[in-house]
Amino acid sequence: MSIKLDLRKLESIKNDKEFQLLFEKGMKFAEEIERDDAIGFTDLPEEDRYVKQAKAVAERLPEGIDTLLVLGIGGSALGAKMVRDCFSEELSKKLIVLDNVDPYTIHNVAKSINPEKTVINVISKSGSTVEPISQFKFFYNLFEVELGREETLKRIVITTDISKGNLRKVAEELEILSLEVPENVGGRFSVLTPVGIFPLEYCGIDTELLLKGALKQKLSGKETAVTGAVLDYLFYKQGKNIKVLFIYSDRLYRFGEWYLQLFGESLGKRFDRNGKEVTVGATGVLAKGVTDQHSQVQLYREGPDDKLFAFFKVNKKIDVLIPESFSQFEGFSYLNGKTFSQLMDAECEGTMQALENTGRPLILYQIEEINLETMGGLIYLFELQTAVCGYLYNINPFDQPGVEEGKLIAKKLLGY
Ligand code: PA5
Repeated sequence: MSIKLDLRKLESIKNDKEFQLLFEKGMKFAEEIERDDAIGFTDLPEEDRYVKQAKAVAERLPEGIDTLLVLGIGGSALGAKMVRDCFSEELSKKLIVLDNVDPYTIHNVAKSINPEKTVINVISKSGSTVEPISQFKFFYNLFEVELGREETLKRIVITTDISKGNLRKVAEELEILSLEVPENVGGRFSVLTPVGIFPLEYCGIDTELLLKGALKQKLSGKETAVTGAVLDYLFYKQGKNIKVLFIYSDRLYRFGEWYLQLFGESLGKRFDRNGKEVTVGATGVLAKGVTDQHSQVQLYREGPDDKLFAFFKVNKKIDVLIPESFSQFEGFSYLNGKTFSQLMDAECEGTMQALENTGRPLILYQIEEINLETMGGLIYLFELQTAVCGYLYNINPFDQPGVEEGKLIAKKLLGY
């Protein structure tokens, strides 16, 4: 398997009765989740419809486009950003994902694009989120002033619910190209729907490979997802309120950002399924290896013992040799002939052992190599793990009532 979970010093936990009972329960939940028609993300690896739709829409867009501007936030933005930044060398167009309303950034993006060569993809499942709506108003206006209405409308793709919401009405009335977000897939689980598939495919990413990797993971990785879910649940119950993702890869850093949103919004809940107040959910923290060894590890080793660590290591990396310069000086020659890959692995192992030596719970995900298939695998693995963990908590991992209230207050303040 291209993603392997190594429990290291925690391996013996598998012999505990409690772990075994939870694992059995988790496997049943995973099967239930994969069978449930109301939960759509588990069907996406087998679904090639969205790739076909993305290709068909791309054919109807004007020629000579060199930039895609995505307007979306949260689950409507993080997936595309994650894949874009991991596979930036494979992009055939510039992919800008504007997921903030900071006027500084909006001003700079507006200055940097050429409307004639840019397509806008506004993405919002609900069709009413203030960030993409405000951005859409702004960029539509900018394009219309420069290109006129007809040419502007040709350069827009709306991705939203199939029938509901304000954006769907705009798409229908103005006959704008549109794509659907399936009703049974929530924002943070939607990267393998047109939310992620269209922008990535249009910008040159082979999204079929993402699906292929997700399918492989679905068919052979259930135990890994359930083991991860049980560990998340068990250690949280034992007071590990913080989950640290230590990612030894620059390319995968945004995977960490994507996962933290999935983890936080899905599992941080006030009420359980029976309406009982439970206030559960660990806090996710992102660390980059080796960089954050020099900023966070002191706290992790000697600070409060309230964390579960998940390390991520890529086995096959490119070889970049450290040359023999300065060998005549003390403290330089031991690096002669070593590669940066060896250095990174040694630092990763050193940090893990240092944490284990102080009794901190730690697991390791070994990723064979970074490619689109393993990225698809990571997506499916952690979506399923998160959903199963939610079921173990007995909460609904698919809603986000805590986000809604802030959205409503902000709109009220703006006079809605
Ligand atoms: O995961 C989620 O559901 C959220 O993060 C949403 O994606 C985010 O709030 C944006 O919502 P929408 O796509 O409706 O604009």
